[in-house]
Amino acid sequence: MCGIIGFIGRSIKGKTITDSLKKLEYRGYDSWGVSFLSEGKVEFFKEIGEIKNVPKKIEEINSSLAIGHTRWATHGKISKINAHPHISSDKKISLVHNGIVENFSELKKQVSNNNFSSETDSEVVLRLIEENVNLGLDLLHAVSKAVSVLEGSFALLVFSASEPDKLIAVKKESPLLLGVSSKGIFAASDQIPLSSFTNKFVFLEDGDIAVVKKDSFKCFDFSLNPVEREILEVDSDVTSSGKLKYSHFMLKEIMEQPFVLRQVLSQEKKNFDEISLLLKKHPVFFIGNGTSFNACLFGKEFFSRAAGISSQVIDASEFPYVLEFLPENSLIFALSQSGETADVLDSVRKAKKRNFKIVSMVNVFNSSLVRLSDKTIYLNCGEEIGVASTKAFTSQVALLYLLSNSCAEKFDSALEELKTLSLKMQQVIELNKNSIQELSSKIKEVDDVFFIGRSLNYPVALEAALKLKEISYIHAEAFQAGSLKHGPLALVSDGVPVIVVAPMDKVFSDTLNNAIEAKSRGAFIIGVSNEKNDAFDFFIPLPKVKELLFPLISIIPLQLLAFHTAVFLERNPDRPRNLAKSVTVK
Ligand code: M6R
Repeated sequence: MCGIIGFIGRSIKGKTITDSLKKLEYRGYDSWGVSFLSEGKVEFFKEIGEIKNVPKKIEEINSSLAIGHTRWATHGKISKINAHPHISSDKKISLVHNGIVENFSELKKQVSNNNFSSETDSEVVLRLIEENVNLGLDLLHAVSKAVSVLEGSFALLVFSASEPDKLIAVKKESPLLLGVSSKGIFAASDQIPLSSFTNKFVFLEDGDIAVVKKDSFKCFDFSLNPVEREILEVDSDVTSSGKLKYSHFMLKEIMEQPFVLRQVLSQEKKNFDEISLLLKKHPVFFIGNGTSFNACLFGKEFFSRAAGISSQVIDASEFPYVLEFLPENSLIFALSQSGETADVLDSVRKAKKRNFKIVSMVNVFNSSLVRLSDKTIYLNCGEEIGVASTKAFTSQVALLYLLSNSCAEKFDSALEELKTLSLKMQQVIELNKNSIQELSSKIKEVDDVFFIGRSLNYPVALEAALKLKEISYIHAEAFQAGSLKHGPLALVSDGVPVIVVAPMDKVFSDTLNNAIEAKSRGAFIIGVSNEKNDAFDFFIPLPKVKELLFPLISIIPLQLLAFHTAVFLERNPDRPRNLAKSVTVK
């Protein structure tokens, strides 16, 4: 995915745009670029890599019309030429794009001026617009005509030096909103870069073209029929920005989990009651990817244990292949921090065609998934900037616990349990924050790490392994502890770390036996438990909590383990290689 930003209003400095664009870098950071209307001309600048060392000339430029882009390459390699904005041949029109134009190869053949300078699908859109302008259309009509032939997903921002009073914004299946401020009107992929300017947002709908002027905007559909879009005022209390005293966003996001849990719990009971009714009436299928998929596994367990509701979990990337076999009247429960993950959105769109009910659990306000859902529970955990999901995961698990209890008419008591748990989360951080660094200094030396757990501790093992591999690049794998002896035990040799997630619960002794089997083959056993045991070569202590709530505390030291190991290896945990915060391609 990519991040885009635009502005039209009173003259501002270029630095305002580049600083704001920086806040979108979590969406993609392999190259970036900005363009400004300055003294009647389009000035632009592009660079490979992150947004730093911005030339003074760009920071100090004065402009009342600007766009910017931070890229995550999909079509075309990482290069200055493929970086956005793209500029028309006559240097008058400038465009940024987030999304994928699926029919760009066919369209490319239809453009008469086929003097393409980049390999991107985005440049094809610019050329179509340019061609329409050359035929005599004004910018709005030229854009509308161009987008009507595009297939795929796109959020576009376009301006022309010939029509300096407007910025055109287009949305289809990629996020885009307007922010109405005292300086003028911004457009951006999400509200994060705009929260220091305004809390008044216009969430554009799929199929919208907005004509944005310095103090007003009008919205149209792709055929240019007017449509009404209202300005929403958003409570900005939950959107914290900056790393505060922490070296990395990921560390901040791990450490703030006890506090965040309190915030997450301020949920509307009525919404939970309504969703609970739906869950009791329909066959339930959880979908999600990555960390959100792991959270779904807890949903299934909580629902059956707390409310006797049976459900299934399907990875969103596999969901379309099983959809036709699901019963009529199913309910899809989609989990996504960003609400923009392509596999999830694609699955939900397909499920809607079968008239399935859609319930979602999402962090980003009014994201695409929210708009596709019949009902949504917001995580309310604040911006999650680190690519590795941490506080969103614990928020998902906590809210699934609350919801499963709401289905069993135990909302209030579960809420109290979770409020108390935030103190235990703090305790687990205090107990482990120093010793985990010592453990990380050992883990950084190894090639493989195995995590094992049974029952509810298995998804914890899965999530811990995902964290370690994605940010430290050390091979990490999770197994159901009982399955170790059916093959994976062959991988265990002298000194291989096996991390055993084994709080004192019903499955403790069986898990311990599996750990001992690994130990007798030379494994270095790291026990995550509220009970010390001689089998553990290294002990990660947990406070005692109710059995179903252990996952919410046992994951925290393992998140810290992944973080410190990555830092020891000089790998940036906030920006792991090959990964982006939201995966908007299938
Ligand atoms: O925004 P989503 O929750 O839909 O994202 C799903 C996954 O892409 C995400 O959880 C990914 O696995 C993270 N990098 C894990 O830390």
